[in-house]
Amino acid sequence: MRPTHSELLTPLEEFTQLHWATVRRFGRRTVDLAFPNPQFLTDPRPYEVLASLASRAGPLDLRYSPFGGFTPVRRRLAGALAKQHSLPYTWNDIIMTPGATAGLRVVLRTVFASGDHVILISPCWMDYPLYLTDLGLSYTLVPSTRDKHLDPDAIEEAWTPGTRGVIISQPASPTGVIHDHTELQRLAAVLEGHARARSPLLIADEAHAHQVWDNTSCPSPAAYYAHTFTVRSFGKAWEMQGQRTGCLAVSPRLEPRSETTTALLRQMRIGGHCAPTALTQQLAAALCETAPYLKGLADLHRHARQHLHAAGVTVLDTHATRFLYARCPRADDRAFVSQLADRGVLVMPSSLFHERGWFRIALNLAGSDLDRAITTIGEECAHA
Ligand SMILES: Cc1ncc(COP(=O)(O)O)c(C=O)c1O
Repeated sequence: MRPTHSELLTPLEEFTQLHWATVRRFGRRTVDLAFPNPQFLTDPRPYEVLASLASRAGPLDLRYSPFGGFTPVRRRLAGALAKQHSLPYTWNDIIMTPGATAGLRVVLRTVFASGDHVILISPCWMDYPLYLTDLGLSYTLVPSTRDKHLDPDAIEEAWTPGTRGVIISQPASPTGVIHDHTELQRLAAVLEGHARARSPLLIADEAHAHQVWDNTSCPSPAAYYAHTFTVRSFGKAWEMQGQRTGCLAVSPRLEPRSETTTALLRQMRIGGHCAPTALTQQLAAALCETAPYLKGLADLHRHARQHLHAAGVTVLDTHATRFLYARCPRADDRAFVSQLADRGVLVMPSSLFHERGWFRIALNLAGSDLDRAITTIGEECAHA
């Protein structure tokens, strides 16, 4: 697939217009469950640590950092990731990026060449196709299964002689589905089956990896396939997305390892991607061994899911991310989302995630505002 920039951007821009228009029209009465911007804190600790770091900071703490980030920060993160992935990361394997967004863009630009083909799994994060198109890469959107898990047979079928890699998210965004051991093992087998002079690459977007609850296992794709790049974001779990802090991790099993890291660092500079701010790098180091409190979010998920079910809305049963992924009662998910916006409730249509017929709810609110929104969603589903 090679759509134009405009074909990819127009639906995103139209949704942003709808969002603005709705907020202008309903003001404080808007129930905004569209972009993941929580309006309350489930875990105050990251804010407390940030305030403490800021209050103690002197000019040297806030100095320029090298591309890739401060070495002690990279070392702390490598240690934490080594435990989570059971892989021997060293500081050199970690590159600090201003959010997962920059990490994705940098890795795609570095490891693929114009004309390469990449496999995406739909639904997927909205901007993957945009980055691939901008870099002159073609892609195929391979649908996930009915319950939104990976379909390794379909991935195999979509493989072409020009395919150089696959992008997945774990836990999956926008669905919140967690890919299990068997799925990842089968995906790794597909990738290994296509190893020739060069091994295909796996980009594992773990932007939501810190938001998994109920002791649910969330295996890391890097533990299954050697040639994996992991992308992380800290903003979601810390509830400060606007601070744009993330990292890129090169698997210690990737060949060639240090040349690849050098190429990624060079691309950070060429692309004008600085490291995250000095303060949020320090925050990343301070919090890297701290699991966020997720009980509030888990309870909110259960509450919202139960009420949506009772209102006749089909919602995926998941244990991760701030999102609920719900079946749209109309084939035209954008029209349905506009209908809800007309009543002051903002959610995102799945066509922005490259799949039709669903919508995504970000649990940004609790209490009576959320309950009112669920009632409205239920009524609109019943009337559709
Ligand atoms: C799967 C996925 N990847 C990447 C991003 C971008 O992350 P960041 O805000 O850290 O740039 C998001 C944001 O929602 C996401 O859901």
